Amino acid sequence: MSSSSSHRAPAPRPDPARRSWAEPFRIKVVEPVRLTTPEQRERAIREAGYNTFLLKSEDVYIDLLTDSGTSAMSDWQWAGMMLGDEAYAGSRNFYHLEEMMQKYYGYRYLVPTHQGRGAENILSRVLIKPGDVIPGNMYFTTTRLHQELAGGTFADVIIDEAHDPASLHPFKGNVDLNKLEDLMQRHGAARIPYVSIAGTVNMAGGQPISLENLRQVRALTARHGIKVILDATRLAENAYFIQQREPGYAARSIAEIVREMCAQSDGCTMSAKKDSLVNIGGFLAVNDWEVFEEARNLVVVYEGLHTYGGMAGRDMEAVARGIAESMQDDHMRARVGQVLYLGNRLLAWGIPIVQPIGGHGVFLDARALLPHLPQEQYPAQALAAALYLDSGVRAMERGAVSAGRNKETGEEYRPKLELVRLTIPRRVYTQAHMDVVAESVYLVHERREQVPGLRMVYEPKYLRFFQARFEAR
Ligand code: F0G
Repeated sequence: MSSSSSHRAPAPRPDPARRSWAEPFRIKVVEPVRLTTPEQRERAIREAGYNTFLLKSEDVYIDLLTDSGTSAMSDWQWAGMMLGDEAYAGSRNFYHLEEMMQKYYGYRYLVPTHQGRGAENILSRVLIKPGDVIPGNMYFTTTRLHQELAGGTFADVIIDEAHDPASLHPFKGNVDLNKLEDLMQRHGAARIPYVSIAGTVNMAGGQPISLENLRQVRALTARHGIKVILDATRLAENAYFIQQREPGYAARSIAEIVREMCAQSDGCTMSAKKDSLVNIGGFLAVNDWEVFEEARNLVVVYEGLHTYGGMAGRDMEAVARGIAESMQDDHMRARVGQVLYLGNRLLAWGIPIVQPIGGHGVFLDARALLPHLPQEQYPAQALAAALYLDSGVRAMERGAVSAGRNKETGEEYRPKLELVRLTIPRRVYTQAHMDVVAESVYLVHERREQVPGLRMVYEPKYLRFFQARFEAR
């Protein structure tokens, strides 16, 4: 053995029963990223008001801000971009997108939108009347805001385990049927236009809902004529967890499970920027003609004509092709597998993260990691800033800053979950990038007592986490 390698532990022999696997693609185009110095990062985060949303992308080394619109498209998708039919009306790419949505999600009618919140706006305006209550398996920021802007109130009916970062429940996205039934009794079914069900649940840490639970929600609400609308943004990732964890689904494909989930619902809103592997796009899909008719009419007010909804023809083609790729079992194993790889490295070092590890990212438990910071000092925001300062890795706060204020009382929400999300873009980074990220989290954790709390010095009115500014205490 040469002296240079003598310090290394002998490599374990391959186990014939547990063969390694790698990503089901090879890399054809690369995009350079920039390494920065500690001084550059110090200046950049201060100029950004300690908000990672306000950093310039070129000051970021490994960008785990979001998995939204950050995927690498395939050569087949890029080829489709050249086939964009940019006619104002009736683009062939619209019909292809409609066909792929019907094939993979199974709904009858498609309304394209520029991204997920465009679909949420239209759906909320069509279905919600002032005074309505919309139960959901935890809130999502834009979804809840559009429900509120339409005069509705969101009500959280997720199981309690979802609010406990340490609970190992395999389906923390499940609805607590008792909470839902209570709500129906309290408000009356007429005040509940639909139940909003996300798969996977972003704010809970990318946690899935089981098909069994979704079926129960469907059975309970159908008796009272209440619709079920899915947030299908990460439904294919949810289907992977069902395949891996729910009895009876191990031999079923992701595509089959997605179809079965959609069959338990009346429609969906979709941010295609996640599962569907594109940089922009979304849609609303429904089965009811009346809902479709009104949505198709409203889309021309807010998004664009009903055969493009704010997307270029080429964008619709990329979404159509991305839908098909997102449902491939080997793609999904590699996608979620990379998230699990990063999460398991952190767990092995005893770093507190949300468990089980979610589908689109690893969520650091900032309350547990920075116990010296009270929630008024925004521990998750502070941790995201500290991580950037250490290595140029950009993460996102998902805690009190994201939760915002109660629209009636103006009080700040104090969510139980105070998380930093390391969100993994699809098909973009390698295992070596994940190692760099893991080591940076480890080193910040090593000197966690030195991470200062933050004070908010600027607070915008809507979705404040995007533009709020802070100072170190
Ligand atoms: N629903 C979920 C579950 C989401 O995660 C998002 C976006 C949306 C709806 C809205 O879609 O951005 O296309 O308008 N989530 C991004 C994120 C922003 O980083 O998690 P959009």
